Amino acid sequence: MKKLTVLITGSSNGIGAAIAQKLCESGIIVFLTGRDADRLYQQAQKCNSAKNFQIELTDQGACEELIQKAEKEIGSIDILINNAGSYPWAPIEKTNNALITQTLLLNQQIPYELCRLVIPKMKEKRWGRIINIGSISGIVGEPNASLYSMSKAGLIGLTKSLALELAEHNITVNLINPGWVKTDLIKEADLTEKEIIETIPQKRWIEPSEVAALVNYLISQEACGITGQSINLCAGLSLG
Ligand SMILES: NC(=O)c1ccc[n+]([C@@H]2O[C@H](COP(=O)([O-])OP(=O)(O)OC[C@H]3O[C@@H](n4cnc5c(N)ncnc54)[C@H](OP(=O)(O)O)[C@@H]3O)[C@@H](O)[C@H]2O)c1
Repeated sequence: MKKLTVLITGSSNGIGAAIAQKLCESGIIVFLTGRDADRLYQQAQKCNSAKNFQIELTDQGACEELIQKAEKEIGSIDILINNAGSYPWAPIEKTNNALITQTLLLNQQIPYELCRLVIPKMKEKRWGRIINIGSISGIVGEPNASLYSMSKAGLIGLTKSLALELAEHNITVNLINPGWVKTDLIKEADLTEKEIIETIPQKRWIEPSEVAALVNYLISQEACGITGQSINLCAGLSLG
């Protein structure tokens, strides 16, 4: 049987890197992306010398370029993981319009565009999996991160709408909302580790491997009935 292919944005580091490693172990052909060439190379080596592409996703035409490159290297995309994101952390009055534009571009528009580009071939094959990585901030809100929270909340609408639109095509679309994961991203927050842990009911970080394990399940045949779901993986930050 032909091996499945996956494109994971932001897979040179943090959560995306853990997802890449897990899916690679599951026998899936992974395609990695990131900005930092060294990190990308190191991560590719950990994933059976996986094909990869160094790209700034917010550059004009980046999505088209990425999909063209990925399809050339590994064939059409069976699984898309929209993971790359930025975490602007500031009181609202310290933000500006350029930051709003950049955040919404990376956290919302790029996932939307990548979905638009991969879905036609998924429909042709009558199989596909899309997983968006949101945030618990998009569910419960977060002080000093209203822009981030707003950007991640938009992924709920994208996920649910696409899930309905694609349900008859055997394509599932889901959203994972992690709580605090100790990656480089959280250095943006002006909070100590102790302050963060105190807010978490389980008093612990979510491990990147926990997100990767959930992704691995959601793309499996056993999970084909799960679509349009917004799943909180957050150590008790939200019980909704
Ligand atoms: N960490 C948390 O507590 C947490 C909680 C909830 C949700 N999330 C979400 O999880 C996702 C991954 O976050 P993380 O914590 O794993 O962050 P991370 O460790 O900083 O990794 C981010 C990844 O995205 C890439 N990336 C960032 N901006 C990019 C851009 N403009 N163009 C191309 N690639 C870009 C980075 O590439 P380079 O390394 O080359 O820059 C890196 O591979 C994000 O969507 C984030 O919002 C994280």
